[in-house]
Amino acid sequence: MPRDRKIPSSEITPLSAYLRRRDFLALGAAGAGALLLGGHSVSGAQKEQHGAKLPSVKQSSYTVDDKKTPFGDITNYNNFYEFGTDKDDPARHAGKLKTRPWTVKVDGECAKPKTFDIDSLISSSTVEERVYRMRCVEAWSMVIPWDGIPLAEVLKKVEPSSRAKYVAFETALQPENMSGVGGFNAIPFPYLEGLRIDEAMHPLALLAVGIYGEALPNQDGAPIRLVVPWKYGFKGIKSIVKIHLQETQPQTTWSQYGGGVEYGFYANVNPEVDHPRWSQAKERRIGEVFRRPTLMFNGYADQVSKLYAGMDLRKFY
Ligand code: MTE
Repeated sequence: MPRDRKIPSSEITPLSAYLRRRDFLALGAAGAGALLLGGHSVSGAQKEQHGAKLPSVKQSSYTVDDKKTPFGDITNYNNFYEFGTDKDDPARHAGKLKTRPWTVKVDGECAKPKTFDIDSLISSSTVEERVYRMRCVEAWSMVIPWDGIPLAEVLKKVEPSSRAKYVAFETALQPENMSGVGGFNAIPFPYLEGLRIDEAMHPLALLAVGIYGEALPNQDGAPIRLVVPWKYGFKGIKSIVKIHLQETQPQTTWSQYGGGVEYGFYANVNPEVDHPRWSQAKERRIGEVFRRPTLMFNGYADQVSKLYAGMDLRKFY
């Protein structure tokens, strides 16, 4: 895979370093542009496309006090490679994603497999607002007021069996609507992610259906995406159509890259373990000038460190 040594490691290094040289160089330029804009909004020409108001959203105690990232930044600075590799590609192209009708099939090691219609799932669930930190593996971060349903609530509906040790997630594949699919062949789509069952059942794990009290914009993973705030952002798989309970650890899109050491299955935020090509000690909060220290488990150590008792976290990047 190509690596361009001219781009300093201190710069945001996109996951797409693995893509074709042409794509990579284009991204390097985009990354530098974003850095220059450090203290301001991420893009001068941001558009705010607002979605339908969610009918009732309950406040949650699982919320941080950090200053929220503005709606315009959350919806214009995205990674959604199905729509291209530049940060503004998802905002420009994800409008084509067809999000209705939409179902999420939940099956595998469970007593009652089900296919949920997205609107019935939302209307029959309690949607909670949770302000979470989001730390991307590329060393930028945001604070996002998600509206969502705890993942555990959905999994309980299918009654997982004792053989359900892991949960596999799959994104929709709509090649005719996804301008980034087929344009380059380095990323195998559909996008796949996974969690261990105890991680999936943790109360912080959320299936987001909105931000700022509005239906999730397409570029952020409409109509439903995963949010696991103590892990790097790439675990937050977007536009989910399948959730499969299984006995073995699932294959994930990014763990196939870099010999399996660059984007691991666990991907817990850890400032002490550098990415093989850059430091993870600090992060650039979108909208701030100075880089701030990254917190262990992204600041959620009190809630989640017990999940990893006895594991050498350095070995489970
Ligand atoms: N899900 C899909 N299907 N495709 C993607 O390219 N990118 C991931 C994750 N989920 C991605 C995805 C990465 S690398 C990150 S950092 C987050 O989505 C970004 O979420 P955001 O754009 O809402 O900030």
